[in-house]
Amino acid sequence: MTNICVIGAGHVGLVTGACFAELGNSVICMDDDVKKIEGLKNDVLPFYEPGLEVMVVQNKRAGRLSFTHSLEDSIAGSNIIFVAVGTPQKSNGEADLTSIENVARRIACALDGYKLIVEKSTVPIKTGDWIHKTIKLNCKKGVEFDIASNPEFLREGTAVHDFMQPDRIVLGVESERAARLLIELYKPIHAPVVRTNVKTAELIKHASNSFLALKISYINAISNICEKTGADVLKVAEGMGYDKRIGKDFLNAGVGYGGYCLPKDISAFIKMAEEIGYDFELLKAVQRVNNYQRQQIVRKAKDALWNLQGKTVGILGLAFKPDTDDMRESPSMYIIRELQKQEVLIKAYDPQAMDTAKNFLQDVEYCQNPYEAASGSDALIFLTEWDEFKNLDFVKIKRLLKQPIIIDGRNIFDPLTMKEHGLTYFGIGR
Ligand code: UGA
Repeated sequence: MTNICVIGAGHVGLVTGACFAELGNSVICMDDDVKKIEGLKNDVLPFYEPGLEVMVVQNKRAGRLSFTHSLEDSIAGSNIIFVAVGTPQKSNGEADLTSIENVARRIACALDGYKLIVEKSTVPIKTGDWIHKTIKLNCKKGVEFDIASNPEFLREGTAVHDFMQPDRIVLGVESERAARLLIELYKPIHAPVVRTNVKTAELIKHASNSFLALKISYINAISNICEKTGADVLKVAEGMGYDKRIGKDFLNAGVGYGGYCLPKDISAFIKMAEEIGYDFELLKAVQRVNNYQRQQIVRKAKDALWNLQGKTVGILGLAFKPDTDDMRESPSMYIIRELQKQEVLIKAYDPQAMDTAKNFLQDVEYCQNPYEAASGSDALIFLTEWDEFKNLDFVKIKRLLKQPIIIDGRNIFDPLTMKEHGLTYFGIGR
């Protein structure tokens, strides 16, 4: 059993804290957001993540998980401190590391004995060096400490599963002591361990997220070739995916990637490369393809509806992907705003993200269910592949729509079945 402190109770921090508690450790999660901490003390989670609420509540009851807004209290009894604070994007694309710097300074002042400080947030290469310098400069007591990097590869919607059954564990360490502590902590999890130095671990995270985005943009680019030639992108992806060197995951063509991680991390990586004198053209192209994909949906709506002005469009799915209520950088936001610029009236439904969406999108009529969104609309556009949408009654939908037009931004449906229902169907790359 290890005493752990997790600083930052966001998506990464809270999942990390709850899962380490589930593995039998004693965990204290700290966040400056008093409202969030009070909520967590009362079993109210700040976001939706399948399986997390039960885990938080059970581990609290078992006395293994607690919450505080005092950094000093959280550090006092802990051997390992995970830093999982936000690294938002600055207007120039760079990662904003002020929260990390502040936390490093505060940790320095609170250190009372050897601690291992572990970066969990996605950070540019050399952040570990900066944390080290900052703590050294600000720690008056000359206490020993180590810095490590242990990047997370959690996906929203499957974060608990990804933590408990990861493909790999990356440990960036600079001392045997740090390595021993982390290897012991991760012992109950069976996965290959990549042990390396801090800088390499930091780079592994950036390189992985960028590669995933690259895969998505690649298949999206192929989908545009498919549309111009009559090929089917689903079959192309299947045919490619059986090749073990390529792999079938992240080859779903659609409206492009969104969320808090991929868009921000790619911008930060491009910026970081620029700073060290490398023009990461490949990743700039990845971004361009992603933006084009969002515009494609508006173009398809135009092709289907002729004039957009005054038309009503039903949007099904607002979250950037299923099983989350996260709207950050969601393609739906861009698409809805573009349609609104062209004076389209929007009716929308999402199983989880409507409350969050209200903070981002104005003048949208939010509906109770998919059928209400279809009712009286000139077209229905699917932007998130929620399971709930997979078995919709298309006879009913056709009856409710003003014009029988379906734009499927996630290739959820079979074009032939749609045709049989008398619907005019537009998918992506088919
Ligand atoms: C991503 C990475 O997958 C995680 O490994 C990483 O830990 C996380 O970022 C992070 O840095 O914290 P996440 O943002 O939760 O996780 O979502 P993904 O499952 O990667 O999906 C990102 C976007 O790509 C979504 O909008 C999704 O719809 C889209 N996508 C994904 C596609 O358009 N096609 C695909 O084939 C796969």
